Amino acid sequence: MNDLLLIKATAMFINGNSELQSLVFFFFLGLFIVNSTSIHGEYIKRSDFPNGFLFGVSTSSYQIEGAYLEDGKSLNNWDAFALTPGNIRNGDNGFIANDHYHQYLKDIEIIQSLGVDAYRFSISWARVLPRGRFGEVNSNGVLFYNKILDNLLLRGIKPFVTIYHHDFPQELQDRYGSWLSPLMQEDYVHFAETCFKNFGDRVKHWTTINEPNLFTQMAYVNGKYPPARCSQPFGNCSAGNSDIEPLIVMHNLLLAHGKAVKLYRKDYQRDQGGSVGIVVDCLMYEPLTDNDLDQEAANRGLAFSIGWALDPLIFGDYPPEMRQYLGNQLPRFSNAERKFMADSIDYIAVNHYSTAYVKDCIHSSCSLTANRAINGFVDVTRERDGVQIGEPTGISMLPVVPRGIGEMIGYLKKRYHNKPMFITENGYSEPKEQEVQVQDIQQDVKRIEFHEMYLSSLAQAIRDGADVRGYFVWTLMDDFEWILGYSVRFGLYYIDRQTLARIPKLSARWYQDFLKNNTQAPAIRISDLVLKLADS
Ligand code: NOJ
Repeated sequence: MNDLLLIKATAMFINGNSELQSLVFFFFLGLFIVNSTSIHGEYIKRSDFPNGFLFGVSTSSYQIEGAYLEDGKSLNNWDAFALTPGNIRNGDNGFIANDHYHQYLKDIEIIQSLGVDAYRFSISWARVLPRGRFGEVNSNGVLFYNKILDNLLLRGIKPFVTIYHHDFPQELQDRYGSWLSPLMQEDYVHFAETCFKNFGDRVKHWTTINEPNLFTQMAYVNGKYPPARCSQPFGNCSAGNSDIEPLIVMHNLLLAHGKAVKLYRKDYQRDQGGSVGIVVDCLMYEPLTDNDLDQEAANRGLAFSIGWALDPLIFGDYPPEMRQYLGNQLPRFSNAERKFMADSIDYIAVNHYSTAYVKDCIHSSCSLTANRAINGFVDVTRERDGVQIGEPTGISMLPVVPRGIGEMIGYLKKRYHNKPMFITENGYSEPKEQEVQVQDIQQDVKRIEFHEMYLSSLAQAIRDGADVRGYFVWTLMDDFEWILGYSVRFGLYYIDRQTLARIPKLSARWYQDFLKNNTQAPAIRISDLVLKLADS
């Protein structure tokens, strides 16, 4: 039976007091326990993770802050993009978002109430340097992040700071085309140094760039994120070249990272004692069939998506598979660059949500977009013999595949010699049809199941020897989900879009309990949570 129906039934009966209602309530609860236990098999506890393993929640500046032109912040690339009708679902934008800029203290109290060890957030480039290198540091922007850092530390919460998470001053786009130009490297290094100087005394965990691989794909292959550049057959953009530009953009992003880390290590690391990583979108690939060609395609796909970003920062150059298929279209690092690029991360920050099947396109026919060098000649699908790879979520590309997180960690552990890893994002958005009313959104049993199953798979990977040091739920509260606007929700907290009230979902209570190492079986715990939610 569907868990959600059971939870709804139990919640309905909580308010009634007749004996019959109680009987029916306990009947449903019993059914729920049997049902839920069989889903979970064994259940996961905080104590299944090593001592010192950090648990946290993750957000990003543009997705929650709002205050888009306040206190000196300039228009950024997403503000500008949102101004054109049709770019973002329902005409949404991040102008107000969750008003975190004004409500940060309340949000930090919520974060503290969850009992997490760490909080990952990002710095709005346009708030701190409204004109990039071409203007002054905005002291109001610095003050805002100082207040966040100080309040986190006061409460014993470790800040994990992402320097750049998709948003930058629009002026850098207008002046020289942002990431298509090597000038953006200089702007990035200036921004990173501004962050090290102003915040580095309190930040021990930096990540330079969020998901350069996904950003490049979305902005320069498919043209769906600003600056919306692409060419046929990938999309219908007014300008762009989907075969070439992504390679240039990634090259600039990686060099920007490498130069910023070189500077950090030379001028800041000794005094500040922090470490630096990069955040990579880590979609797992499994071969569609057990045929050798599909197996090879899965490996090639991973090299083209993950190795593309990580190989240069660990080994100093792009994956050999990419050079083989892209030849001279793939930019080259000079010898000097290779030296500072290699070993330029202290850890890998893994964003993992899902897994897909991959099919070879070199020896069999594929769609026009799959059969392209930029995509490594692989076709990505979520269906095998008419069966979906996992339960659907609010984003069709991200079905629920719990085993994938373990597989991904295994892959990274092998390819990068067990470099330390943090899971900087993992989360669930429910399909539209599961969210009919606010109560449905609040009773997010599917999100709890998602985290329990993914955490179980992760704990197994750690028992198998992987050096994973932390796990961050994406995300603290429902937020601006880029081109999908506010229509897709990943949060532990629901945001009432009229009042901007933060309303805990069942999953927030679950995370709280989990972090206290509540050792009850999940089904019993969930029924308890329903009661708590009804009380509140
Ligand atoms: C990864 C991105 O870093 C984040 O900004 C986004 O909201 C989540 N994935 C969910 O799509």
